[in-house]
Amino acid sequence: MSGKCIETILNHRSVRKYKKTGIDEKDLQTILEAARRAPTGWGLGWINVIVVRDESLRKKIAELVGGQRHVEEAPVLLIFTIDYARMREILRKINVAPGKHNIGFLLAGLIDAGIVSAFTAIAAESLGYGICYIAVYSAACEIASLLNIPRGSLPVVGLTIGVPDEKPGLRPRPPLSVIADYDKYGVLEDKIDKTLASLREYMEKTWKLVLTENGVYENVGNTILECLREQGFDI
Ligand SMILES: Cc1cc2nc3c(=O)[nH]c(=O)nc-3n(C[C@H](O)[C@H](O)[C@H](O)COP(=O)(O)O)c2cc1C
Repeated sequence: MSGKCIETILNHRSVRKYKKTGIDEKDLQTILEAARRAPTGWGLGWINVIVVRDESLRKKIAELVGGQRHVEEAPVLLIFTIDYARMREILRKINVAPGKHNIGFLLAGLIDAGIVSAFTAIAAESLGYGICYIAVYSAACEIASLLNIPRGSLPVVGLTIGVPDEKPGLRPRPPLSVIADYDKYGVLEDKIDKTLASLREYMEKTWKLVLTENGVYENVGNTILECLREQGFDI
């Protein structure tokens, strides 16, 4: 395997400690340009990126997402927002009635935000910066209000970027034979056995915290629904 891009991708690890040095302005523009060039459904491009450089704002966001210090300490935090307020207003201007922002809009926006943020993350890593995704969807409405994100738009994911001050090892993943199949979905029993054999020790605590009844995902599901409705989604 060769090539800078594949090398960057295969060496990815989340970085949660950053040097005080900021990000070179030209590099930041290149990173944002990568966000702009990312593909989006139908080429519609309704994703907005807010570059949060103000430390006091990052501090507040760090608290809102459960006291994550790296959010405060990273020189830059990017917030990726499904920007349907912009879409709605543009449609109004050209006399087109917007459809209900139902689950279809939500799914499309979430996938777009994932792709745009991934392009951005890889661009930043390829320039030598460290990144860490931040689950801002857990406090979407509070963050929307803090950053003046209009009703109709929804911040869903964040990315800290900075010069790394740590080099963690590569974190484990399931074997390729668990996540990649050819032509048809593989044997579920095999996938279960191989996943447990390779990840159980590393992941069991996380699985119990996140995936169970009353776990993180279920709780986010309960709060995000209210927030989605507050932000004007028809769900
Ligand atoms: C959508 C998404 C949300 C995440 N949210 C957080 C977060 O809020 N805080 C954090 O420290 N890491 C977060 N992460 C990073 C993951 O924990 C990390 O990618 C995973 O543990 C694997 O580690 P690695 O990135 O070093 O390979 C998030 C990752 C993704 C893709």
